[in-house]
Amino acid sequence: MSDTILIIEDEELLGSELARFFSKRGWETTVTKSIREAERHLSQQAIDPLVVLSDMNLPDGNALDLLERIKNKISSSEWVFLTGYGSVADSVRAVRLGAYDFVEKPCELERLNLLVEGAARSARAQRRLQDQMIAQNSRHTVEALIGKSQVATSLRNMISQMANVPFSSLIITGETGTGKGLIARILHCTGSRALAPLIEVNCAALPRDLLESELFGYEAGAFTGAKKRHRGLFEQAHTGTLFLDEIGEMDLDLQTKLLKAVEDFCIRRLGGESLIAIDVQIIAATNLDLIQKVEQGLFRSDLYHRLNVMSLRVPALRERKEDLDELVPRFIADSNRKSAKNVRIISQQAWDMLKRYDWPGNIRELRNVLERCVLLSTDEHFPEQWLQLPNISSKPVEHATGNGIFLPLDGSLSLNDIEKYLIQEVLNRTDENVTAAARMLGTTRETLRYRVQKYNLRCK
Ligand SMILES: Nc1ncnc2c1ncn2[C@@H]1O[C@H](COP(=O)(O)OP(=O)(O)OP(=O)(O)O)[C@@H](O)[C@H]1O
Ligand SMILES: [Mg+2]
Repeated sequence: MSDTILIIEDEELLGSELARFFSKRGWETTVTKSIREAERHLSQQAIDPLVVLSDMNLPDGNALDLLERIKNKISSSEWVFLTGYGSVADSVRAVRLGAYDFVEKPCELERLNLLVEGAARSARAQRRLQDQMIAQNSRHTVEALIGKSQVATSLRNMISQMANVPFSSLIITGETGTGKGLIARILHCTGSRALAPLIEVNCAALPRDLLESELFGYEAGAFTGAKKRHRGLFEQAHTGTLFLDEIGEMDLDLQTKLLKAVEDFCIRRLGGESLIAIDVQIIAATNLDLIQKVEQGLFRSDLYHRLNVMSLRVPALRERKEDLDELVPRFIADSNRKSAKNVRIISQQAWDMLKRYDWPGNIRELRNVLERCVLLSTDEHFPEQWLQLPNISSKPVEHATGNGIFLPLDGSLSLNDIEKYLIQEVLNRTDENVTAAARMLGTTRETLRYRVQKYNLRCK
């Protein structure tokens, strides 16, 4: 099917000449003589032009007003303007509105053709990107948050409500692996900014200076190694969402800069002079108690209150064990698909073990444990011997803490083996997240990294 070009031109002769010219080059052409007529076509979606070639001044108004009114309502098109005489004000506005280009009349047709071809390429690329985003977003609907418990249901309701209001910032709190990252993605993908970028950054994963230059960007020469200008994550997230994961780990001094950016809606690149306006929605997540951190002087209270315009607490899995009824079959089915297995039968004993355990690593731990079991299965029976959950069989439910670990003290493991096993087990429970693992072990990331290397373990 050929692409459509909409020509808005009140001079009848020029309009039909342009239509003839572009039809010959394989375009489906539609010509309108007024803004009103063009607006009717576009808003009723009678046509879906890849390129709009428009006279700037028409008898019933300025075509830039039309672009401004309609641009968010139609799929991506590139606009090329024909101007009767050079008007600086109009051209500045055209650029601001995202017009592809503008040419002064009279214009040589071959030159115009080159411009239109360029505009078409750009519009096609935008549409491809948009299609990809729509496909990706469809995976992050509120239904992706599985669970029938009262808690999960009200979480889904709150997320749906929040996605419908244009909030500027929100904090998601909850233990590791409870689904904070998933919720942030759902909020973005079902909200009004779904077609704009979602930029994620883990504040605990980068050293302070690197995090600063990543967030704010830099100009060439801002510091040794800054060879080229770099657009920071704030700029990349413009009109979309910036997801600041593990915000509780952010350095105090960087928190001050973040607060300023969020309050002033603008940033300055490192080594840069000019202020750059930014329009981003911020979602911050943490598994730390931020109020406690504020009291300890480790988190700025003004930043906390600025970000905490809305907040969501994601309960731990042990507070909603009924969700296992849905989560377990779903994760087993996912793992079956991934590893070409066919586990279908879960014994009562396996269910009892799954329900008795407290899942300190929450849904992530559950998913990883089930994946391991499915991988090691030999037939359609769920192999509960591979659950290897800490010593739960003898413990009554109400006394199970679940965040312990079982170590055989029969001489079969040396002290080094025990340390290696312990670290490996904690990394498994935290999805190889060193920060979370270090927290569970009450040590620093550096110490843990050293041991991870020493024992040749894997981590992120
Ligand atoms: N209710 C749920 N339904 C289905 N999948 C879930 C649910 N909650 C979490 N998950 C899955 O569990 C895994 C861990 O979730 P996620 O990464 O969002 O946790 P998190 O709270 O961000 O953890 P951390 O604090 O360690 O970053 C992901 O694969 C996520 O898709
Ligand atoms: Mg996360």
